Order: sequence, then C-alpha cells, then structure tokens
Amino acid sequence: MLHILSVNDLTDDFLYSLWSDASSRKGKSNNSLKGKVLTNLFYEPSTRTSSSFYSAMSSCGGSVIPINNVQFSSVAKGESFEDTVKTMSEMSDAIVVRHSDNGAANIAAQVSSVPIINAGDGNSEHPTQTIIDGFTIYNFFNKKLSGLRVTLVGDLKNGRTVKSLVKLLNRFDDNHFNLVSPDNLKLSSDLPKKYYETSDINEVLKETDILYVTRVQKERGSVHSYSLTINQLMSLPKNSIVMHPFPRVNEIPVEFDKDVRAKYFDQIRYSVWCRQILLERVMK
Ligand code: NCD
Repeated sequence: MLHILSVNDLTDDFLYSLWSDASSRKGKSNNSLKGKVLTNLFYEPSTRTSSSFYSAMSSCGGSVIPINNVQFSSVAKGESFEDTVKTMSEMSDAIVVRHSDNGAANIAAQVSSVPIINAGDGNSEHPTQTIIDGFTIYNFFNKKLSGLRVTLVGDLKNGRTVKSLVKLLNRFDDNHFNLVSPDNLKLSSDLPKKYYETSDINEVLKETDILYVTRVQKERGSVHSYSLTINQLMSLPKNSIVMHPFPRVNEIPVEFDKDVRAKYFDQIRYSVWCRQILLERVMK
C-alpha cells in the first residue's frame, strides 16, 4: 500500500514518471478511476488542495466524499481522529488528510486500511504540493531540477510547502538556496546543503532563478506582514520564475500576475494534472 506522507516517500523515479505522464495527459478526462472513491478529510481550511483533488478524481471517473467541515461531522460529537480515519477507510479507496497537528497523516496511516495522502500536517510537510511545485520547475527549466538558485521568501519557519520543497530540491546537485525571512520566521530544521540567509530580499533578487514566495502562517502563531513591490519583482532576471503555493495575502501585487515570470496560476492548473496521475498510482 502506497501512503504519501512525506517527500521522502517519493523517489526520483516515481516523480519523473508521474511528471512525464502529467505532461502528456495535461488534465484530460478518462475513466481510469471509475468506481473508486476518495475521501477528502480536511481539518483545516482549503480551497485549492481539496478542490483539485476533487477535480482530479472526478475527471478520472471516480467520486469524492468531501469532509471539509469537520465541525458538521462526528468529530463535533467527540469522535477520535483514529476512529474517523478507520471509518472512512471502510468506505473509500484512499483518504486525503489535512490536519493542524504535525504527524497526523502518519497516525492516519497506522490505522487506515487504504492509502493515506498527506495534504498538509501542521508546519511539517505538504508532499503533494511539492509534486506540483517540482513539476512547475521541471516544466519551466527543461526537466532539470539541479543547478538552480532558489530564493525562498516569507514564513520559512511555519510554511510546510517550503519544508517539503527544500527536501526535494536538496536531493539534486548544485542547488543554491537564498533563505529570506524576518528573524522570527527563519527556517530552523532540515536546512539545505548550500544556503545564504538574509532578511533583505534586495540582496538576492538578481541572483535568483526561482522566487518561491509564501504567506505568513498566522494560524500557526507567525506574526509579520510581508509584501514584495512591483519594482522588486520587475528586477528579477528575465528567465526567472515566480512561484507561490497560494493563498496569497499581500505578498505579491496583482499587477505582477500578467508578467511572464508569474507562474502561480500555472501551479494551480498543474495541480490537477499531477493529482490525476498521483491518484491513479495510489489507487491501482
Ligand atoms: C498551503 C498550505 O496549506 O500549506 N496551501 C496549499 O495547499 N497550496 C500554503 C498556505 O496555506 O500558506
């Protein structure tokens, strides 16, 4: 049984084969998962992740049990997380779990009789966002995930997409990381092999191939507000790309959306392409 709990569960071969299938299929519908049922079990808010799993599953001919408001489920009656997971594993072929506790997906995997997909656990990991982020890089840098200057900016302490992305990119040769955050929001665990740390983005803008911007995670106790100006973004190298897992709050001005370097809406489109293939792999 293939659980997707961490980026460490994704081998390079698995990822390259998924990305290659995603780029040939490009989100097209088929009936590969007809008769299969996915449960979306979300204990935290979500727009993109839950909807793109829904979209991916339905475009493969399968169906989704959406539990997006746990306050209206038996959780409100005091049911344990483990019992909820066991219950849903009796009526579905895989479960997507988002939870505010680090390690929640691992707990789910211990009690579930079907594969668990971690859609974000606390400030720990978000491996399926990394599949999408990796695919975005694969797509815009000619299938290459090495030799890149990656500037990560924002809440590096509590942003789980950052932690998962660093784990992935750290596997490849010669990636250099610029870690840009206020002092109280620095990346503190799983530091990359080669990095430069600063709180001033202006120092590294011109030394950037990928600018990966994140939101300040207020719900995890992070305090700050962070915004890039249009002038800062315009000064990025011509061939660089700007990514953001979204939601954005004030980090990137809307004016920049039409710039060719802005790839954050491409990431959202790719989320369905990648999750279709991921669901097929997990449920086969
Ligand atoms: C992220 C998350 O939930 O970790 N969103 C997402 O899934 N694309 C990022 C965030 O909430 O800031």
